[in-house]
Amino acid sequence: MAEPALETLAAGGKRVRPLLVFCAGAGSDANEEHLVSAATAVELVHMATLVHDDLIDGATMRRGLPTIVDSRGAEAAIQTGDFLFACAFAELTRTGSPPAVRALAQAALALSQGEMDQQRAAFDLSLGEDAYIERCRRKTAALFAVACRLGAVVTGASPEATERLTAFGENVGLAFQIFDDILDLAGAPATTGKRRGADLRDGTVTLPVILALGIEPRLAREVEAARAGSDLEALCDRLAQHRGLELARTRALEFVAAARDSLDGDIGGADGVAMLAVADAVVDRYQ
Ligand code: IPE
Ligand code: IPE
Ligand code: MG
Ligand code: MG
Repeated sequence: MAEPALETLAAGGKRVRPLLVFCAGAGSDANEEHLVSAATAVELVHMATLVHDDLIDGATMRRGLPTIVDSRGAEAAIQTGDFLFACAFAELTRTGSPPAVRALAQAALALSQGEMDQQRAAFDLSLGEDAYIERCRRKTAALFAVACRLGAVVTGASPEATERLTAFGENVGLAFQIFDDILDLAGAPATTGKRRGADLRDGTVTLPVILALGIEPRLAREVEAARAGSDLEALCDRLAQHRGLELARTRALEFVAAARDSLDGDIGGADGVAMLAVADAVVDRYQ
C-alpha cells in the first residue's frame, strides 16, 4: 500500500492546500511542527480522495502518470486511498488538537457526500447552477476551507480570524473546482496531467456545460451522445469555444472576488498577500 501511495506523492501536484495551511498559519512561529502536521494531513486527505476519485471516475491519467486504478486495479486503489486517509488522521493527531481533527473529519465527510451527490446526478442535464455549486462546496471547497481553518486553529488565531480564513478557503475552493471543470474541456493534458473529457464521458454535468446548455439547449443531444462514446475530443473542442465556458470563468472570478472580501478584516497574522496571490492563481493556472 505504501508503494502506490508514495508514487502518488512523488508524481507531484500543485500542493495548493498545504500552501494555504502555511499562509493561514503564518502568524505564529511557536507551533511550526503542528503547522507541518496539519499541512501534511490535508495533502494526505487530498491524495486519498484523488485515488478514490479516479476509481469512481474511471480516470486513467493523473499528475501525468497512469492512475493507481489503471496500473494496479480497483482493489489496490481502494486500499491505497484508505491507507492515505489513515495516515492523514494519524499525522493530524500530532497537533494534539481535537478541534483540528474534528474539522478535518467533517471535511472528509463532506467530500464523500459531494462525490455521492455527483454520482446521483450523473447524466442529469437538468442540473441547475445552484445544485452544482452546492456539490462543489462539499466535494472540493470543504477541503480548501479546512486547510485555512487548520492553519488558524493550530496557531491559536481569534474566532473572527478563523472564520474569515475559512470563508476565504471555501470561496477559493469553489473557484478552483469551476476552473478544474473548465480545464476538463479546454486544458491540454501536457499541462494538466489529466485527459480531457472525463466529466462528459462520466455524465458529470459541470458549470461550463450547464451555462452552454442554457444558451444553446440543442447541445443536449451531443452531451447525451458522449455517454455512448461519441467523439469526446470534438465535443470538448466545441464546448471549449462556447460562450458558456467564458461565463463559467466569470463565475469563478466572482468567487475569487468573494475570497478577497473574506480577508477584509481581522485575519490575525495570516499572510493575506500570499493568500490573495493563491486566489488569483487558481483561476489563471496554465494560462
Ligand atoms: C484535483 O486537485 C482535484 C480537484 C479538486 C479538482 P488538484 O488540481 O489540486 O490536484 P493536484 O494535487 O495538483 O494534482
Ligand atoms: C474533484 O473532482 C475530485 C475530488 C474532490 C477528489 P474531479 O473529478 O473534477 O477532479 P479531477 O478532475 O478528477 O482531478
Ligand atoms: Mg475525477
Ligand atoms: Mg475534473
